Amino acid sequence: MQKVGLFTPIKINTLELPNRIIMSPMFSNSATKDGFVTNNTIKHYVDRARSGVGLIMTEHTSVSSIYIHPGNRLQISRDEHVKGFKRLVDAVHQEDCKIGLQIAHSIYGAGLKPSDLTNEQCYEIIEDFVNGARRAKEAGFDAIELHYAHTYTMADFISRRTNTRTDEFGGDIYGRMFIHIEILKRIRELVGKDYPLFVRISAEEFIVGGNTLVQTRIFAKELEKYGIDCMDVSAGVRFDDGGLKGYSDQRGKPTIEYPDGPNVYLAEDIKKHISIPVITVGKLGNPVVAKSVIEEGKADMVALARPLIADSMWVRKVKENRYDLIKECLYCTECLYERHDPEAYIHCMRYTCQNACPANVEVPVYIDLASQKRYKEAYQVIQSENPLPLVCGRVCHHPCESLCNRVKIDEPMSIRGIKRYVTDAVLEEYGKLPLPEMEKPNGKKVAVIGSGPSGLSCAFFLQKKGYSVTVFEALPVIGGMLSVGLPAYRLPRNLLEKEFDVFREMGVEFVINKRLGADMSIEDLKSMGYKAVYIGVGTHGDRKLNIPGENAEGVLSGVEFLRKLNLGENISFKDKKVAVIGGGNVAIDVARSALRLEAEKVMLFCLEKREEMPAHRWEIEDAEKEGVEINVSWGPKEILAKNNRAAAISFKKCLDVFDGEGRFNPSFDEYSTNTVEADYIIVSIGQAMERTFNEKENQKVELRGNYIKASFGGYTNIPYVFAGGDCVTGPDSVVRATSEGKYAAASIDKYLGGDGQVISIKKHKRELSRPVDENKAIRQPMENMACKGIKDFSEIEKGYEEESMLKETNRCLRCDVLKCSRL
Ligand SMILES: Cc1cc2nc3c(=O)[nH]c(=O)nc-3n(C[C@H](O)[C@H](O)[C@H](O)COP(=O)(O)OP(=O)(O)OC[C@H]3O[C@@H](n4cnc5c(N)ncnc54)[C@H](O)[C@@H]3O)c2cc1C
Ligand SMILES: Cc1cc2nc3c(=O)[nH]c(=O)nc-3n(C[C@H](O)[C@H](O)[C@H](O)COP(=O)(O)O)c2cc1C
Ligand code: SF4
Ligand code: SF4
Repeated sequence: MQKVGLFTPIKINTLELPNRIIMSPMFSNSATKDGFVTNNTIKHYVDRARSGVGLIMTEHTSVSSIYIHPGNRLQISRDEHVKGFKRLVDAVHQEDCKIGLQIAHSIYGAGLKPSDLTNEQCYEIIEDFVNGARRAKEAGFDAIELHYAHTYTMADFISRRTNTRTDEFGGDIYGRMFIHIEILKRIRELVGKDYPLFVRISAEEFIVGGNTLVQTRIFAKELEKYGIDCMDVSAGVRFDDGGLKGYSDQRGKPTIEYPDGPNVYLAEDIKKHISIPVITVGKLGNPVVAKSVIEEGKADMVALARPLIADSMWVRKVKENRYDLIKECLYCTECLYERHDPEAYIHCMRYTCQNACPANVEVPVYIDLASQKRYKEAYQVIQSENPLPLVCGRVCHHPCESLCNRVKIDEPMSIRGIKRYVTDAVLEEYGKLPLPEMEKPNGKKVAVIGSGPSGLSCAFFLQKKGYSVTVFEALPVIGGMLSVGLPAYRLPRNLLEKEFDVFREMGVEFVINKRLGADMSIEDLKSMGYKAVYIGVGTHGDRKLNIPGENAEGVLSGVEFLRKLNLGENISFKDKKVAVIGGGNVAIDVARSALRLEAEKVMLFCLEKREEMPAHRWEIEDAEKEGVEINVSWGPKEILAKNNRAAAISFKKCLDVFDGEGRFNPSFDEYSTNTVEADYIIVSIGQAMERTFNEKENQKVELRGNYIKASFGGYTNIPYVFAGGDCVTGPDSVVRATSEGKYAAASIDKYLGGDGQVISIKKHKRELSRPVDENKAIRQPMENMACKGIKDFSEIEKGYEEESMLKETNRCLRCDVLKCSRL
């Protein structure tokens, strides 16, 4: 008989799962106040689905809008909730992952006990569950889990401690389980015999007078008898001290002082009494332990909750034996209890900054190295995940900082500032940036189309792995938007070249002025010996306003204007008035560039209110400092031309940009208008992907809407063609594009027979090199040259001096290294 392991498929009723790892139900705090699914909910689950987890079991979702825990909990209490769940299910299915819905009810949330309910109210609970199940099936969930455990109504009913009723809903263990079995029978009848039903139980309450395995064995057998397909064996229940933390609860979410898998014995016991598959849960993030539980037959599946918060890619890393890459959960449970923003959706408090970084850079590790002046090693830590440290040190939008735990004390760390210092220090010391460790050439050729951050990143990780990579670029320069989008006052070109030199020295070949579609086809590349193709063509097309007068001379597109400027075209706006349309970062770059080209006046108009403008706050502030006039809540109406040259533009008042459902759907007051004189009107309202690369192909790369359709890892409809970056995600960021290129490189390596490992083995242990200083210490300011009358493109932001950089590193709390004493 074949040995069963963590990655052995399993079938539960009709549900076929590729492995035995379940994402355990976990409240994500991502729903709206009325319990609706949000984009954050979807992102949270999709991020885990991508790791290859066998099944996602969602957080508890309330079947009632009254009996519910406080917080932003999901609900399936009304038919209107179904639509959002359909979106969630579809998004998870897109990642080839299955998803079940855990349904729950909580009288505890309303401060009640079973004995406080009337007989009628008990029957209403049954109806609530049945309706919840009906909606869950309608939404397309692959399974339903009945939440009969922990701090919820059903756990209160089964417990001999909390259920003191004497009617049909109470009494001995059979009486106390009456409601559970009634719910089960009704739901089974409703969903049919083939639909997978899971149940979660607390096998031991770990509280005086509560249920023990003795009662639970009987309960489990009855649940099996009435049609449950899978038993999810948890532990711990509600307790009466009113606090959130307590011994019983801690057994359900075992904390740092417990050994690995302290509740496995409970599943092992229950498994002996029933014949359906059994899940065990609780502190199983150590892959060696998780594997042994399955291999030794103690349970059929393991459920992981916090380990998948600490590291959403846990499953993938375990499957590929890359334990060194795992961000180990420290079981502090701060993700549940200590979020500094209680409204934020769940995230790990230990790897906060690293997880917020799309490239997954080990932020605290390189900050620590920088604090020891070990700059080259710090650079290499960044480079091991993101091949553009210099670029990101200057222009990254640093999502890592927005979640930094330092705000608990004062202000977030200046992570980007430290990164910038590190790259500058390495350049100063060595005159160049270090190359990564290279593997031996393997003789296989890969073509990359587009030399922007995503193409560069894919090329970097493949060349490092031994491939011969050729990057084909349509323009006469490499770098994509780094070279032809971002203005030089934010990213000096001489420094950018230093980062490009790393790629050249590694042996990446760049072929400029070669456009896929016009100059060659994907099939041509194949016949040239390229075994795989990565498409990272970005979004270089523009979006039109579609208003009268748009074709007049003097009306330009933002990206086209920046491209011409960056390619050296002689542009001057001397004594001219320039109106920039758009409220995003590109519009701000356009406006600030126009000022430097000596415009007499630069006016920016956008639909959004000030606080809704998509541009970063600091960019808007700098633009204003330099003299850009920002006009909010105006929508373009007509461009007025004289002799076919733009002369003025009229606007109408924008009342709201978004409709009631949060969709972009602007509404206007047609009678409130404004007309301004303008010699140039530069339209920066977003970019689109140019599709010409696909036109000549026999087999076309499939598109989804305006972009290329590619699943996680860059897989397209053509097996040897991969894609990523802005042309897949839509306009995004440098760091996101690098991470797309990296994941695609891993997929290409696998496709070409490699192990899919493109990231070097981690060398630095996570440990404290100095005591953590939790005293207040202000964020070190960085000098900025933005000022009125600015006329050139020299760098605006001055980096840190070493002294201030060191002070800044000293503010890091090393959240990733937890001492028990801090609990
Ligand atoms: C003005 C501006 C400012 C920005 N500022 C920031 C910022 O400060 N921080 C930040 O994080 N992000 C910023 N961004 C976003 C960031 O630049 C992009 O998200 C990122 O460059 C996307 O990388 P990419 O590799 O997917 O595409 P791109 O950088 O667009 O590169 C695509 C490359 O493919 C080439 N190409 C296109 N078609 C073909 C073809 N058929 N054949 C061959 N080559 C082709 C293009 O010429 C281009 O070189 C900015 C964007 C713009 C436009
Ligand atoms: C933040 C958080 C939220 C949780 N929410 C739920 C829930 O909604 N339903 C549930 O059955 N268990 C919930 N649990 C318990 C987990 O599913 C799991 O049983 C427990 O955390 C132990 O697993 P772990 O050690 O892998 O985290 C939650 C746990 C955490 C940490
Ligand atoms: S390390 Fe702590 S905060 Fe992070 S997921 Fe684990 S328990 Fe939650
Ligand atoms: S204090 Fe340091 S480790 Fe903690 S989130 Fe901020 S940068 Fe990361």
